[in-house]
Amino acid sequence: MEFVYESKKVLLGQLAFNQKYLNGSNGSLSVMIRNTHRLEKGLIVSKRKKIFGVDYIFDLVEAYCYQILKCPHNLQIKWTHDVLEEYFKSVQIESHENIQKAYDLFLKTPYFFGKNKTKFLPKPLEKFSLSYDLLLSFFQSRHCVRSYQKKKVPLSTIKKALKLALTSPSGCNRQPFRVIFINNSKMLKSMSSLLMGMETFRDEVRSLMFIIGDFSYFSQVRDRHLIYVDSGMFCMSFMMALESLGLSSCPLHWPSLGERDMVLEGKLKLKPFEQCVLALAIGYAKKGCYVLHSQRKQVDDILRYNDVCID
Ligand SMILES: Cc1cc2nc3c(=O)[nH]c(=O)nc-3n(C[C@H](O)[C@H](O)[C@H](O)COP(=O)(O)O)c2cc1C
Repeated sequence: MEFVYESKKVLLGQLAFNQKYLNGSNGSLSVMIRNTHRLEKGLIVSKRKKIFGVDYIFDLVEAYCYQILKCPHNLQIKWTHDVLEEYFKSVQIESHENIQKAYDLFLKTPYFFGKNKTKFLPKPLEKFSLSYDLLLSFFQSRHCVRSYQKKKVPLSTIKKALKLALTSPSGCNRQPFRVIFINNSKMLKSMSSLLMGMETFRDEVRSLMFIIGDFSYFSQVRDRHLIYVDSGMFCMSFMMALESLGLSSCPLHWPSLGERDMVLEGKLKLKPFEQCVLALAIGYAKKGCYVLHSQRKQVDDILRYNDVCID
């Protein structure tokens, strides 16, 4: 039942992706972001090809047009616009009918970022210098906290942490997730009853965040793990951002138990192709509270070095 429920979501996601111009699906956003990302990669290769992107350039411009009408001031639209502009400058437009068709549509599309002169284009790498020891100490100072002060967690602080976490890498830059933050006490009670790993500290939790993956970003079953991988990377950054803002957190496993998913879906008003990945308890740690030792594995416990069969 549990497995079937998840597979159904993956398939419903594919369906929604294919109906990408219907409300509710993130298919067209996914097409726009992924293909803009592919064009950017094409622009930075050491030997840039004279013609590239012909297989997806029209789909990209079509998705871009749709997104402009849907949310014209989204900064990802500007990014796509600037990359497309650069792309059309760098290829011979008449050399391929797909490029020509895409260019014609691009020219007809309204654009709302006229005054913003900064171009969102590939740029030279600037390395930031931060000592390993400092970073190690920061990471080692983070612990899961299961005992929180009564102090409410402000939404503005959560937004700051989210801004930082959104810098995390994501497959083709799609970021196929959203988050739901709850600090209303009645809602907290209702939601925390669904989480299994917090029996010992349920009453301590002052706010919760649910990380919700969205399968409508993907046209292929093979990409089904990306919601988990990307959400995981995002969560780690988010937790470190919370630390830097004086907050603590504890990830809370979401047991995917079919029936429980259904209840959660109703409470959080999720779409049929959305899947809860994880929850996080967030709050100000109680003064003097204890944290677990949780001894980690050593590097040699997990590392195998150049140990591959070559035929
Ligand atoms: C995916 C995931 C799920 C977790 N679920 C729970 C949970 O349900 N309840 C809980 O108390 N801790 C949970 N944890 C926290 C781990 O127990 C904790 O990270 C681990 O013991 C290491 O301790 P530390 O984070 O304090 O260093 C979870 C952590 C992760 C990454």
